[in-house]
Amino acid sequence: MSEASEVVRRPTHLPKPRGPLSERVVAALVDGRPLPERPAVLDEEDGAITLWTIDELSYRGFAEVDDDREWDPSVVRLRRQLEHDLEARLRARWPGRPAYDGGVGAFPDALFAEIEAHEGPSLARYVHTDATADQVLELLQLRSIYHLKESDPVAWVVPRLPVAARASLMELQYDEYGAGRPEQLHAALFAKGMAALGLDPTEHAYVDQVPLEVLEQNNAMSLFGLNRRLRGAALGHLAAFEATSSLPSRRMAQGLERLGLAEEMRAYYLEHVEADAVHEQLAARAICGSLLAEEPELEDDVWLGAFTCLDLEDRLAAHLLDRWGAA
Ligand SMILES: [Fe+2]
Ligand SMILES: [Fe+2]
Repeated sequence: MSEASEVVRRPTHLPKPRGPLSERVVAALVDGRPLPERPAVLDEEDGAITLWTIDELSYRGFAEVDDDREWDPSVVRLRRQLEHDLEARLRARWPGRPAYDGGVGAFPDALFAEIEAHEGPSLARYVHTDATADQVLELLQLRSIYHLKESDPVAWVVPRLPVAARASLMELQYDEYGAGRPEQLHAALFAKGMAALGLDPTEHAYVDQVPLEVLEQNNAMSLFGLNRRLRGAALGHLAAFEATSSLPSRRMAQGLERLGLAEEMRAYYLEHVEADAVHEQLAARAICGSLLAEEPELEDDVWLGAFTCLDLEDRLAAHLLDRWGAA
């Protein structure tokens, strides 16, 4: 077994249900029965863990579930119903695109200006100066739901883009996927950091611990990535994600150093200080910029994706800082 496949282990366990819908869905996925339809009344967390579970069938799946269930009509039907709810929630939170001069060509600078002006609560700032080791370990467990499949949701978008945006997205993805070296895959770097900290680097290992906000973050990325119609939102989300990564990654690395936590996890964050300073330019200018030059009608969706990225991170940060008494 190579070093990389040792640290990124295949997921094995379905999540614990969080209500009656996920209870029925998890059972039906295992025993092969059709999935139910979305009930008229549905708790948000029950719906979110159900959609997360269905979406995972399109990534690396679950050992207990037949791979063929991904395209089972009852699975697709429920996925679409839950995606519809999620998209409606995300669109309801979006205040609309900011006013700026210069048309779609001005998008990259307008995005950087928005992010500069954005003042959300910052988990990385708290980790840098105040968090305890237990709080940092808890945060890394929550982050693992995404970081162990880092860049996978946006990989769906590649074949859906015009030539220039496709080439630029592949340039960025080439870095994220380790530039041909499995041990340099960003997901593998994170897994290595988790193992060094005594955490379980298996995908999904901590899904039962994550709050609604983390499920919503992951479900939004899958929604944008899996629906070609929402390719603009997927790339707007990517641009905002990359543009809010370099400085926070430095703070995370400094926080880990302050607490004397594993060098391997610091290495993951230090890699992102450098890489994402480049990726933010690539994502905003070469990827979103060239997409909008060819498909300007996607401008609103690009902003929806960027807003959703910032908004969902703000919601997670507010939730955690409040729980830690640090708000
Ligand atoms: Fe990365
Ligand atoms: Fe990146």
